[in-house]
Amino acid sequence: MKIDIHTHLLPENLPDWKSEFGYGGFIRLEHHKPCCARMMRDDGKFFREVEENLWSGAARVKDMEQTGVAKQVLSTVPVMFNYWAKPKDGLNSSRFLNDHLAEVVAQNPDRFYGLGTLPLQDTDMACAELVRCVKELGMQGVQIGSHVEDMNLSDERLFPVFAEAEKLGAAIFVHPWDMMGEARMTKYWLPWLVGMPAEVSLAISSMIFGGVFERLPKLRVAFAHGGGAFPFTLGRIEHGFEARPDLCAVDNPHPPSHYVGKFFVDSLVHDGRALKYILDLFGPDCICLGTDYPFPLGEAEPGKLIEDSRLALSQPVKDKLLYGTALKWLGLESN
Ligand code: CO
Repeated sequence: MKIDIHTHLLPENLPDWKSEFGYGGFIRLEHHKPCCARMMRDDGKFFREVEENLWSGAARVKDMEQTGVAKQVLSTVPVMFNYWAKPKDGLNSSRFLNDHLAEVVAQNPDRFYGLGTLPLQDTDMACAELVRCVKELGMQGVQIGSHVEDMNLSDERLFPVFAEAEKLGAAIFVHPWDMMGEARMTKYWLPWLVGMPAEVSLAISSMIFGGVFERLPKLRVAFAHGGGAFPFTLGRIEHGFEARPDLCAVDNPHPPSHYVGKFFVDSLVHDGRALKYILDLFGPDCICLGTDYPFPLGEAEPGKLIEDSRLALSQPVKDKLLYGTALKWLGLESN
């Protein structure tokens, strides 16, 4: 049994939001040959080549049958967050993506769980769409970015959204996007290789230092890519907290290590030594299989690292990583 908590989905056809909203910056899909499309920015800049399994539930199920994945947790592609757009347009695009995602889940409820996307540039709209995602569309939660324009996840404007998620029992998946320092990372795919792990560490640190976990102890948050750079720099972050509480402990008096074990990460670290380390740090009750399907930086054979015999993980630990912890994070443990 495998549940993959980190997979992305897009509709086969995206609206022409540039015309609809009267300004550009949105992604559109160019279907240039059967089963394939180019994700393009509406200024004509190429973003990414994608295949049918990004939008087709049937193509995904075929892949899942081959790789032994029982269920995928679907979320949009982070470039679709549109946090930079006018709030009402962000709401409009979020609703379109959420309706589509819910439809794909409804066509194959045995195979998919759903996470929505929210117009986080407007707190009230985001809360309302979160309620709609959970109560009307039957989703398990939402995926959010590692930051929202100039707001880190410690920003008080975002707190009501987290509070609403806790109240609803909705899971939150934090995914890196819009990577810091991108202007200095134009070569070598560095935003993905260096920026993304830094973004995740920024997101975790912001939620800890901002007291989000302290104030919302029942909130269930999972971070992508094994927590990015956070696990490997926790010693430094902890030491910084002790050395300069005047800088670090201004919004929450408890040290970062206090929150280890109180949030989730996915298993997408690409290295057995790294998986061993996060397992030692967080424990098997905090790590869920995540592959970034269907993208090339993901784990092509879902669960290969967890099942690698060289790691010699026990079956109960493997079972938690492959599906048990995912059910706990999704709030479906009793099912
Ligand atoms: Co991803």
